[in-house]
Amino acid sequence: MAAGNRISQAHQEAVAGYLAPVQALWEDPTVTEIMINGPDEIFFERKGKIERAEGVAFGSEDDLRAAVNAIAGSIGRRINNEEPRLDARLADGSRIHAVIPPCSLKGTTVAIRKFTQAKISMKDYIKLGAITPDAANFLEICMFLGKNILVSGGTGSGKTTLLSLLCTRIPKGYRIIVIEDAAELIVEYEHVVRFETRMADEQGRYEVSIRDLLKSALRLRPDRIIVGEVRGAEGLELVQAMNTGHKGSMGTIHANSPNDALVRLEALAMGSDAKISEKALQYSIAGAIDLVIQISRLSDGSRRIMSIAECRGLDKDFNYVVAPIYNMGPLVRGGDGKLVGQLEPVGELPSFMNEIEDNKIPFPRAKFFAKKG
Ligand SMILES: Nc1ncnc2c1ncn2[C@@H]1O[C@H](COP(=O)(O)OP(=O)(O)OP(=O)(O)O)[C@@H](O)[C@H]1O
Ligand SMILES: [Mg+2]
Repeated sequence: MAAGNRISQAHQEAVAGYLAPVQALWEDPTVTEIMINGPDEIFFERKGKIERAEGVAFGSEDDLRAAVNAIAGSIGRRINNEEPRLDARLADGSRIHAVIPPCSLKGTTVAIRKFTQAKISMKDYIKLGAITPDAANFLEICMFLGKNILVSGGTGSGKTTLLSLLCTRIPKGYRIIVIEDAAELIVEYEHVVRFETRMADEQGRYEVSIRDLLKSALRLRPDRIIVGEVRGAEGLELVQAMNTGHKGSMGTIHANSPNDALVRLEALAMGSDAKISEKALQYSIAGAIDLVIQISRLSDGSRRIMSIAECRGLDKDFNYVVAPIYNMGPLVRGGDGKLVGQLEPVGELPSFMNEIEDNKIPFPRAKFFAKKG
């Protein structure tokens, strides 16, 4: 029977012995990622910056392989010539991906994304410079009004963190279903159901995909659906859910701009086996997505929201009409190497301004035209 891809607590302790060389990094709460490129080249990430772990090494390639074998074994899988890649989750929520030779040229390559318990509050997020108080307020309003939101960004740009943060602003009284490859999101909410996918076993059996779980979710009377990361055909079901009354649904997607995010969602949804024409799909997406939040990891290691944009349908050539409401202003490098700059309203009212006013939300029109600073 497939054991899923999550390692139990007992197994994690057994595996820890094999990972002793990186134990100090593992236990250092300021380290967020450990990258092993063969037995004696180890890097780590701290405060968004990658550094070499000097003097840290595994005894040999065999020792490193033994560690990866132990991780694989503890979740009932094998990593070998036929299947040289491994995805695993530790009991504490950390995520491990490994690739072994011959696919990996420098020796066994492993990346460990540590689960950061540190909950980032909206206050922290503002302090980190990831968002301005006004833009944060605007996002809260969007959550209150049940806007469908796509968080878009590159690898490690802070998509999951932002999605967790948005979840803290879901108004009370809804039934939320969260679907992820591996449960990462922090969702403290009264009524929430959580699903996690299961990888296929060695014979390719028993896989349960995001799409499978999304189909189940739709039969379980959700109000809002949250998909940790849209990276496949499930994009179609998510869009359909958003269009059929599941207001306030959200997901993240790997893309470099709000427009790219919509185009990527289209490509992913099109890749599904459903019989939907390209135009129908474009209409669906344009109707489903209200807002795209673009986030980036900048060269100084900071993660910031670069744009909050509204999706306003399609133009006559079937291009998505994307209207930024907030964009990052000019970024200037300070003396300490940090980039200084902030999100600014571009001078465009959201199309749902009337909803904001009808709900008597104290966020006047003038806010969208506020001057810099
Ligand atoms: N605004 C921020 N400021 C500083 N650090 C942040 C910020 N947002 C996220 N981080 C940190 O950046 C790292 C990556 O964040 P996160 O997992 O949310 O990114 P992601 O885009 O979901 O990554 P992936 O592509 O792997 O899914 C984490 O260690 C997180 O704590
Ligand atoms: Mg993520």
